[in-house]
Amino acid sequence: MPYAKIIGSGGYLPPRVVSNDELAAELATRQIETSDTWIVERTGIRQRHIADPGVSTSQLAIEASRRALEDAGVAASDVDLIIVATSTPDFVFPSTACLVQAGLGIKGGAAFDVQAVCSGFVYALATADAFVQAGRAQCALVIGAEVFSSILDWNDRSTCVLFGDGAGAVVLRASQEPGILGARLDADGSQMKILCAAGNVSHGEVVGDPFLRMDGQAVFKLAVTSLTQSAHQVCEEAGISFERIDWLVPHQANVRIINFLGRRLGVSDDKVVITVDKHANTSAASVPLALDVARRDGRIRQGDLVLMQGVGGGFTWGSVLARM
Ligand code: ACO
Repeated sequence: MPYAKIIGSGGYLPPRVVSNDELAAELATRQIETSDTWIVERTGIRQRHIADPGVSTSQLAIEASRRALEDAGVAASDVDLIIVATSTPDFVFPSTACLVQAGLGIKGGAAFDVQAVCSGFVYALATADAFVQAGRAQCALVIGAEVFSSILDWNDRSTCVLFGDGAGAVVLRASQEPGILGARLDADGSQMKILCAAGNVSHGEVVGDPFLRMDGQAVFKLAVTSLTQSAHQVCEEAGISFERIDWLVPHQANVRIINFLGRRLGVSDDKVVITVDKHANTSAASVPLALDVARRDGRIRQGDLVLMQGVGGGFTWGSVLARM
């Protein structure tokens, strides 16, 4: 059975950078109080990229995909599977993956979206890995892309300061060399209320609440517990001792969650990739963006053992263990 190997990555962030001070000044015009100090102390976030009105998730995804294909040295026409993880699709349908396929000029091969919020990329990567291992795809584009700014309530300071927009992508190729070594996905739907955007459009009207709502402390606790357990499970199932991991690339929600996780797992800070300070929480895009940053700056190298982890609404969580 072939492995699915990551042979390229790419990221794209919209050009507009909003610092904490700029955001605080903007919110102050509506009598909403926040500060750089509060945001940095509680979350580690210093800035976020925000897409201009009208910029869609598929546009960010296409740009990230082009960069990933270029990095992999693969022609778009070689891609026979596209999976986009997103909670902010352009449309109800067609899927964002179909829009990406058209944008890249590809015809044929499967294209579909995966919805697991901030766990979306690891869900999509595990799915693509299963396709490749089963011989159903040879070359997959796996993308996490979000315009989360479109589902934020900009009058709710407890959530609007936490998120940003962006896209990250990887190219997976069937290979005889070790690539993805294990994946573990979990969900607990009974926890849906702690993090949700429980609205929709029906009969042309918005029903429910279309904005993201979160019980921050409940999310914090569940994120640390579930990711700790998942890290051990994926290593155990792959028969790899946890100590051999070279890099932890966790979902970038909050630096305090990441630090807690690192301490619980006994991973030293210099083995953990952090981008939340610059990107904020980009939901499904956070893991591939962080992976891409660390590959491009030379930290993650060929042969390294990387543990990628996602956690988010659903409640969902998951881990993918990959030999680069
Ligand atoms: N600026 C200033 N004050 C604020 C802000 C803000 N942006 N947001 C909330 N506050 C205030 C609250 O109103 C509250 O004031 P009060 O005591 O007068 O009522 C006070 O700060 C403390 O609020 P808490 O919600 O208790 O703050 P907490 O210390 O829990 O920090 C946070 C909130 C950062 C969200 C934290 O709970 C957390 O890190 N949770 C993890 C969730 C997370 O990171 N989610 C990201 C998305 S989920 C995901 O990706 C998995």
